[in-house]
Amino acid sequence: MSGGVRDLVDPYGRVIRDLRISVTDRCNFRCTYCMPSEGMEWLPRSEVLSFEEIERVARLFVERFGVDGIRLTGGEPTVRAHLTTLIEKLAALGVDLAMTTNGATLRNSAHDLRAAGLGRINISLDTLQRERFAEMTRRDELDNVLAGIDAAIDAGFEPVKINTVVERGANDDEIVAMAEFGRERGVEVRFIEFMPLDASGHWANDRVVGQDEIVERIAAVFPLEQMPARGAAPADRWRYLDGRGTVGVIPTVTKPFCGDCDRVRLTAEGQFRTCLFATEESDLRSLLRSEGDDDALAALIEAAVGAKWAGHQINQVSFIRPARTMSQIGG
Ligand code: 5AD
Ligand code: SF4
Repeated sequence: MSGGVRDLVDPYGRVIRDLRISVTDRCNFRCTYCMPSEGMEWLPRSEVLSFEEIERVARLFVERFGVDGIRLTGGEPTVRAHLTTLIEKLAALGVDLAMTTNGATLRNSAHDLRAAGLGRINISLDTLQRERFAEMTRRDELDNVLAGIDAAIDAGFEPVKINTVVERGANDDEIVAMAEFGRERGVEVRFIEFMPLDASGHWANDRVVGQDEIVERIAAVFPLEQMPARGAAPADRWRYLDGRGTVGVIPTVTKPFCGDCDRVRLTAEGQFRTCLFATEESDLRSLLRSEGDDDALAALIEAAVGAKWAGHQINQVSFIRPARTMSQIGG
């Protein structure tokens, strides 16, 4: 069986359009809501997919299954050597190519990434206070990240978005300050509800600041108007009434958007996941390395998508935390 594009449709009728590829499990930060301070065990190099292997899987998703968006994630994708080489290969597939990064090295690399064909970029920034930044990421790199954001804007990424994880008691007093930062720089800040994917296991429901509260706090200072429905995109979006841009919220916990999910994920070691919170994975790497042909890869992918669940159940007692952290799955 080959030739022709065949939609990947899950049991709930959702069509898969977006592939998230983690290119490394390593990171130069140690964000408290993601990693422990020390003792992360990195995958040995031999277990991480090569660029050729990643390209092969990506091509299959694009050419056979009509996926039209690819996002590179990590760990921190920019710590993977020669990343621009991979970007060139994936850009050649003609997809909407995006990346999520912590921004620490963008000051020097943003232009090269753009030139290689990366289209869109999301940069994580949770605080504008230097000491708090050093506490939350366990690295004193705020100035580098701010310079990285400027470099990304300068390199012509359109749009540049900022990801801000909100954790009650950690940085929720900066919601308005972060919104203001976005307005001033002309970038969209997207506030992300704290999810139970941290290595330390300190996630608790009362540390989640929900979408309603986030929006209320911003609107009290900068009046907002909600924009039309998001489709498959995870963020709900608002427009500032004074015309100074937009702001988003990703309400994973309080308003799950699983019903519109069009995403699947490939981990750095070649495991295929149909949900961030999945407890099962399909081993694409073994097939890739045992000379499985594209039909065999496609069959494994279709079987996994055929078992994609309706959604996560963070708010129910039956919720099982994934054994992996965000850095091991890929945002
Ligand atoms: N909850 C919410 N967001 C998280 N991220 C990492 N860990 C968590 C968590 N526990 C975010 C990062 C980055 C994106 C890839 O995921 O801040 O923006
Ligand atoms: Fe690294 Fe991102 Fe995890 Fe922070 S959240 S430790 S930047 S992978």
